[in-house]
Amino acid sequence: MAFSKPFLEEVKRRNRITDVISRFVPLRRAGSNMVGCCPFHSEKTPSFTVFSGTESYYCFGCGAGGDVITFVMQSEGLEYRDAVEQLAKMAGIPMEEEPRRQDDPHTPSVKKDRLYAVNKSAARFFYAKLRSPEGAYAREYLETRRFNDTTIRRFGIGFAPDKWDSLYNHLHGEGFTDEEITVAFLGRKGKNGRMYDLFRNRLMFPIFDLTGEVVAFSGRRLNEAEERKYVNTSDTPVFKKSRILFGMNFAKNEAEKGLILCEGAPDCIAMHQAGFGNAIATLGTAITGEHARLLSRFTKMVYLAYDIDKAGQKATMRGIELLNQVGIDTKIIQLGEGDSKDPDEFIKKHGAEAFRAKLSGSRGQIDYRIDEILSRFNLSIPDEKLRCSHEMAEYIATISNRLEREIYASRAAEKLGLSAESVKSEAEHKRKTMEKTMKKQENARIVRDTTGYGDQVNVDKLRFSAEAPHEEAVLGILLLHPELGKETARLLEPEDFATSFNRKLWNLFRSDLAEGVEPELNADGALTPAEIGAVSGYRAARATLGSNDMETLRSHIGTLKEMRSKREYEGRIKEDPAVLQEYLALLRKNNQNKNSE
Ligand code: CTP
Ligand code: MN
Repeated sequence: MAFSKPFLEEVKRRNRITDVISRFVPLRRAGSNMVGCCPFHSEKTPSFTVFSGTESYYCFGCGAGGDVITFVMQSEGLEYRDAVEQLAKMAGIPMEEEPRRQDDPHTPSVKKDRLYAVNKSAARFFYAKLRSPEGAYAREYLETRRFNDTTIRRFGIGFAPDKWDSLYNHLHGEGFTDEEITVAFLGRKGKNGRMYDLFRNRLMFPIFDLTGEVVAFSGRRLNEAEERKYVNTSDTPVFKKSRILFGMNFAKNEAEKGLILCEGAPDCIAMHQAGFGNAIATLGTAITGEHARLLSRFTKMVYLAYDIDKAGQKATMRGIELLNQVGIDTKIIQLGEGDSKDPDEFIKKHGAEAFRAKLSGSRGQIDYRIDEILSRFNLSIPDEKLRCSHEMAEYIATISNRLEREIYASRAAEKLGLSAESVKSEAEHKRKTMEKTMKKQENARIVRDTTGYGDQVNVDKLRFSAEAPHEEAVLGILLLHPELGKETARLLEPEDFATSFNRKLWNLFRSDLAEGVEPELNADGALTPAEIGAVSGYRAARATLGSNDMETLRSHIGTLKEMRSKREYEGRIKEDPAVLQEYLALLRKNNQNKNSE
């Protein structure tokens, strides 16, 4: 469902692009624009440009670009709708109501602010129940876990009574509908047609989003005989498990010194209580790419403090990989004394200082990987030792710094009981081969980017390399000066565009431009982020030029029309050579017209 134009305009007007972007990137003035280092790729000299005149941005380095909505989508990993909603929220603009979709009967008609409200009400209910006589044994349980009162208050820990409908009755009494309660994953309709609570007899951990609003719950059993240890909120319109990091609402303020990532709410809470305010958790799920991207906005360093079991090791390996991809360095905390499987247990047994020692003594990811490889082979068997050393060299070859390769090769060799030289030379040999391949790929990428060959966005660009620059000029000027759209719309036909991508853009923008209105790049997901980036590039290229008037526009359109008739004649000449005469006559006529102008 599309938003109305006035609503979107209001959202954009109240969220000036330079204000929004400077919250993420330090910008400095450069002429009438602002520049900074691109948040979407790593660079040392700024090529990321913010055009306040057109409320847009474009990175001349990586090609990311768009408007304030695109920026929020890209930097926060949000869908279009959610990005608009976030901007509206920040500006205090009420969300536009979305009519229920006809084609999708499953789309709940529940509004998001009702979901926030019902979650808040439930959190208050659980919190009060913990302090009521009913909650006596839950309080005792918390004592055995040594969560103190400050912690309980800070994290809003609560108790879901051992009844089928106590929360439901409360929420119903507060005016929440059955549908709202169902969509929020707090209750469900039973076979008898009555609503029942999904969280019963559990210790309740509210889950907060970045702004500190309750969006979900993680409920731990209080009766160890109960089959399910945890009941967690499934994804709802205000909660995506793959995106949420428990504790981030607190930890974000201490994130620069590195974040400590663990598996569950109890671990995270125990660490906060012990003075580690930079702890966060991924609620049982393995870390996702979305988590990694979110994390990269806050820090360059993550300590992985997963459980010591097999699942925890797997999650650690995956974490190293995903976090490295977004430029985050990792250190691995190994609790493995055998007497405590996770940070919560460790701190309870050995205290905060011992945990701090673990943090500072944590191994870097390279040592961790080396030990991980070693652990998979029985080194007393010659054949296994050989395979192990090959795999080790293979891994060490992936380290980009030469000095680091040397250091770790020696260390690995020692652990393998081999000479440092043998591991080193094998790793260097593998590195050479690897670098050759990388070089080839890099060259291919440069050729592709500079010639437009294999352009992912405009696939016709190489075939129509003469036409494409004129098409881009026309579209770029129009995005800068939509008021020229009225006249252009009378002159320009879709067939004047040779490349299908630019023709698609014209068809998409035409009706807005014909009214002199700036087209909405994000409208209804018609364009992918890469496509929006490309279009922003057209506009950015023109923004740095002098003449972007109707005169210039007309001349580019004229050239496109000439090229079009040439293309069309070429097709006909192939079929009938006599047409050539007709074509030459036309060219002569055009030339005469030009000379007499
Ligand atoms: N988890 C889950 N469902 C389960 C088990 C675990 O959702 N059946 C999630 C929870 O978020 C939990 C995390 O995975 O916090 C880690 O699981 P586990 O180590 O078993 O629990 P702990 O967090 O250590 O909880 P406790 O200390 O209370 O045993
Ligand atoms: Mn635990």
